[in-house]
Amino acid sequence: MRQSKVTAETIRTMKARGEKIAALTAYDFPMTRLLDEVGIPFILVGDSLGMVVLGYPDTTSVTLAEMEHHVRAAARAQPRALLVADLPYRTYETAGSAVDSARRLAAAGAEAVKAEGGREILEQIQAIVQAGIPFCGHLGMLPQHVQEEGGYRTKGKKAPEHQALLTDADALVTAGAFAIVLELVTPPVAQEISRRIPIPTIGIGAGPDCDGQILVTPDLLGMLPWFSLKHVKPKLNAAEQMRAVIREWQHSISVAPPPRGA
Ligand code: KIV
Repeated sequence: MRQSKVTAETIRTMKARGEKIAALTAYDFPMTRLLDEVGIPFILVGDSLGMVVLGYPDTTSVTLAEMEHHVRAAARAQPRALLVADLPYRTYETAGSAVDSARRLAAAGAEAVKAEGGREILEQIQAIVQAGIPFCGHLGMLPQHVQEEGGYRTKGKKAPEHQALLTDADALVTAGAFAIVLELVTPPVAQEISRRIPIPTIGIGAGPDCDGQILVTPDLLGMLPWFSLKHVKPKLNAAEQMRAVIREWQHSISVAPPPRGA
């Protein structure tokens, strides 16, 4: 029997129940279906799409139309999991544009949206929540700001940054977020935030003490051998296995068939 649909409220209450939240990204129908069949409760159509599927150097080129296209594909899997979608760069600069963009992703099939930032996007978050669209926060390293920052840097090492993260986390809770992704936050600060706030933290490169963990699925499966990341060791060498199967198939069709009657 199919278990009941996962909602933003289910994810929020997993923290109180002490259940760790396993979250992964998907960008299309088959991956969403596979993750859902395994029982992953939180599936993110992340704007990591830009790097892992579309070949952009970072997430800043991803458009809302591209996100809608991939959210539609993922939603066709009709997952039991909560399907969350990223609001891409510069699509939530005002409360009005944030609600319009979030509604477009919801119309494409997203059941919640995520955006990067803390107090600086509070009005936008409040407007999205008021529009009835569940909102997931994202603090720490914000990939949409990688160009201004000049790279992917761990956050929370210095006292002002540590304090800013705590204040931002509190602000997201007040604004009505149901969960917060913590990306590249120092493990002690991620632990402190996780203990401090009532909603789940979902870490990526933020240590083991978050309420859940999220990974970019192609990183977990070793599908992108051209890049290496500190926070994830691939559990499979999918790229090499795919190359081997493709090579073997290529060889099999180029071997001359035996003569007739042999
Ligand atoms: O875009 C994405 O995949 C993300 C995860 C890294 C959390 O935001």
